[in-house]
Amino acid sequence: MIFSEDFVENVREQNDILEVVSSYVTVAKKGHNYMGLCPFHPEKTPSFCVYHSTNSFYCFGCGAGGDVITFIMLAEKLQYREAVEFLANKAGISIPKYDENDDFLDRKTIFAMNRLSAKFFFSCLMDRENKLALNYLLSRGLLKKTIVHFGLGYSKSDGYSLVNFLKKNGFSDEKIEKANLGVKTKNNFLRDRFVNRIMFPIIDVKGNVIGFGARSLDNKIPKYLNTAETIAFNKSENLFALNFAKNQEYFILTEGYMDAVALYQLGFKSAIASLGTSLTLGQAKLISRYTSKIYVCYDSDAAGRKATKRAIEILKKENLDVKIIEMKDAKDPDEFVKINKGQSALKFKFLIKSSKNSIEFKISELENKFDINKIEEKVSFLKEVSKIISEIYDPIERDVYSSKICSKYGILKSAFDLKIKKNLQKKNKIALASLKKNQKFAHSGSLYIEEFLISCIIKNNDLMVYFDDFSGNDFSDKVSSELFIKIRALLSSGKAVSFSSLSAGFDQKKTGEISRILNLNASVDVSESEFLKYFGIFKQRKEINNFKLSENLEDNKILKFLDKLKKSKV
Ligand code: GTP
Ligand code: MN
Repeated sequence: MIFSEDFVENVREQNDILEVVSSYVTVAKKGHNYMGLCPFHPEKTPSFCVYHSTNSFYCFGCGAGGDVITFIMLAEKLQYREAVEFLANKAGISIPKYDENDDFLDRKTIFAMNRLSAKFFFSCLMDRENKLALNYLLSRGLLKKTIVHFGLGYSKSDGYSLVNFLKKNGFSDEKIEKANLGVKTKNNFLRDRFVNRIMFPIIDVKGNVIGFGARSLDNKIPKYLNTAETIAFNKSENLFALNFAKNQEYFILTEGYMDAVALYQLGFKSAIASLGTSLTLGQAKLISRYTSKIYVCYDSDAAGRKATKRAIEILKKENLDVKIIEMKDAKDPDEFVKINKGQSALKFKFLIKSSKNSIEFKISELENKFDINKIEEKVSFLKEVSKIISEIYDPIERDVYSSKICSKYGILKSAFDLKIKKNLQKKNKIALASLKKNQKFAHSGSLYIEEFLISCIIKNNDLMVYFDDFSGNDFSDKVSSELFIKIRALLSSGKAVSFSSLSAGFDQKKTGEISRILNLNASVDVSESEFLKYFGIFKQRKEINNFKLSENLEDNKILKFLDKLKKSKV
């Protein structure tokens, strides 16, 4: 069910956006609105704006925007409904009581039904009557303890066992259907969703059984059938086995449930798998909440390699350190384990050790794509390789790759380097435009920050030590600049910094300004970390301003600088 519009409106009204946002980010008044550092993308200069009058927000940097509910969805990584509930709880509004259609309670019910079903499937798997199913798993090399660990199960072939079992336990047809454990036939008869399949329970990080992956035992199509999207199961936001892998140092991402299970049994507890769809950004985000390092270990066929390339780009977006594990003689990790028998753990460790980074992988992909013996293809190949190498920031690292390629393919290093230089110039021109845009933002947020810093120094003169490398010129606001110069002069001559010593020699208008700045944070205690946050922005702005736009376009300097801006969180 959807909440009534009245209810949602009430939740919106009772949650002042400024108050809600303020518990995640510090925003400062600027004109009619409030500006701060965007919590949804890394930045050092505030481009996140709260429009108090319309109870909305917008980030000029990343484009995120919406009302207070959207904000909570993004900030807490919640679904719409969960966000509404979150805000209702926050404001002390009672959520509409239990009702047949209430999704919130239904979700809990679905988890309970799924858990009960998983137990049922497990007991069916262990039932002598269905020994074919258990034998299948054993024949694929799984140990009993692995089966128990993952809670694998079997859905019987009669087509009604589970539905009957759930009904006996008091669940209505409607609920069974809603959990996608049963489906209606044309004659309106409820039958099992999963028939004659090996069942893989999918468990989220909180331990809820959110759905199932199910492998056919009789060559029925599809080979793998998953729970359809339900209010409790979102394929693109969850990962198989993450509940077991979540505390590991790194993850190994595989394509199939069996791959993750086989690797786990081999001792690699960090194996996870996506849920029958290609990797999504939501899954990459989820991964980055638990680890910064991920090995991609997809199938070795063409489709797997294509999926790997795609996965690299998605995982890189979340700043993950991506390595690629390649298996030469096996189709997938499960087969690798089987082929290598007693040696497989050792051999897989070796594969991890010899995994490629994304540059190496991309180059080897190109090597496979082009026929180097044909001159035209060789030229295209080398041009493509030069593009990949141009992505590297470090000139030494770049040179190592270039040298390797040039000697391998017998081309003149000077020619190859010239090509890279041209690529870099092109890329830098684009980056430059983006940097200029950034500078505009840097400027727009600076007035408040400068005044804030000055008011901090006035309050606590010791903070002046942070400004050793700065001068009045670094302040873009005239009053702040003059005040800074004056404070420094007063302090170096051992005089006290006070309203009267500061305003001496200034006209009335300026004196008014000074008094306003003095009062900016007069009534609150500003912590050093708060100060440092703003100081960080200020310092960075200086860096941007000092960045010589004329600087040579042949290196990745500008790109690197932009990337640093994006990655660094104040
Ligand atoms: P096994 O034969 O059990 O080892 O599987 P596999 O290694 O051949 O798996 P495959 O590479 O075919 O599939 C890998 C993963 O893709 C599975 O774990 C499923 O999540 C998913 N998948 C495979 N086939 C289907 C299908 O027909 N439908 C859906 N939705 N997903 C599938
Ligand atoms: Mn397989």
